[in-house]
Amino acid sequence: MVEQGKTYLVMGLLDHDSIAYAIGKTIQGLGGNVIYTVQNERMKKLFLDGRRSKLSDEERDGLNIRYCDITIDDEVKALFADIGPLSGVVHSIAFGNPKTCLGEEFHTDAIDDILLSHHISCVSLATVARYAHKNMTDGGSIVAMTFDASHTFPFYNWMGVQKAALEGLVRALARRHGRDNIRVNAVSAGPLSTMAATKIPGFTELSDIWNNSSPLSWDPVVDRQAVADSVAYMIGCYSKKITGQVIKVDGGASIVGGQLLPHEHPQT
Ligand SMILES: NC(=O)c1ccc[n+]([C@@H]2O[C@H](COP(=O)([O-])OP(=O)(O)OC[C@H]3O[C@@H](n4cnc5c(N)ncnc54)[C@H](O)[C@@H]3O)[C@@H](O)[C@H]2O)c1
Repeated sequence: MVEQGKTYLVMGLLDHDSIAYAIGKTIQGLGGNVIYTVQNERMKKLFLDGRRSKLSDEERDGLNIRYCDITIDDEVKALFADIGPLSGVVHSIAFGNPKTCLGEEFHTDAIDDILLSHHISCVSLATVARYAHKNMTDGGSIVAMTFDASHTFPFYNWMGVQKAALEGLVRALARRHGRDNIRVNAVSAGPLSTMAATKIPGFTELSDIWNNSSPLSWDPVVDRQAVADSVAYMIGCYSKKITGQVIKVDGGASIVGGQLLPHEHPQT
């Protein structure tokens, strides 16, 4: 589990629905110290003081939030130079232009959008590992967030391609950082209602697919916590011999061929 008093960096905070926020709160609840990153200063202000912010004064005072645009190498470098020893890093960051990288039509000539999406959603994990390993001199764990890349889904298009690349990168980084006693894994979550998800045209249809194919059932709001719990397991020492893996926290949807028949649905 998460080690008491050790520090964990959780990258990818946007708002109170972000998976990063659920993960950070879970790690804190288990006794870890959490440093969050948001993309820039403006987003930090929005998270702390925006209309949708639900923070009490006490919570606000207890938060340690840095900003870091993952596409700017110098910002990533400066972040890790500034934060001291870490036991784990969560990469909970992705982007794909909904108009070109997602939607009903797969084909697009927006190559720059595809490349930006690849940089943010995949390559940035390598940037993070390149700097973060120097902060984890006693070993540690890096966890990235993915979405089932062994199947294709409607609307998810180029993000599905980025996630497949991310999962390959997780294995490459696990091999590279084994010598540093740093594990690198991904947690593959079912669809969750977050800001990134609202940008996916057809997210409701995607959620419906999950509802019809999860032996354990799947709730895009409630099951955020199940995902955060699994990330806490993967970032902590109870998973210390697991590396290079994609851990599916998806209600079992990924093992089902076709859809569940009526008698197979979980009893409510
Ligand atoms: N929501 C889902 O259904 C779902 C399912 C499986 C996996 N995931 C993955 O979980 C992760 C977190 O997504 P979320 O659903 O919590 O949504 P979110 O919108 O709350 O988080 C996405 C984060 O990526 C950040 N980001 C985008 N571009 C960036 C940049 N250039 N530099 C720094 N940060 C940048 C955003 O600011 C935001 O904080 C993503 O990798 C996403 O693909 C989400």
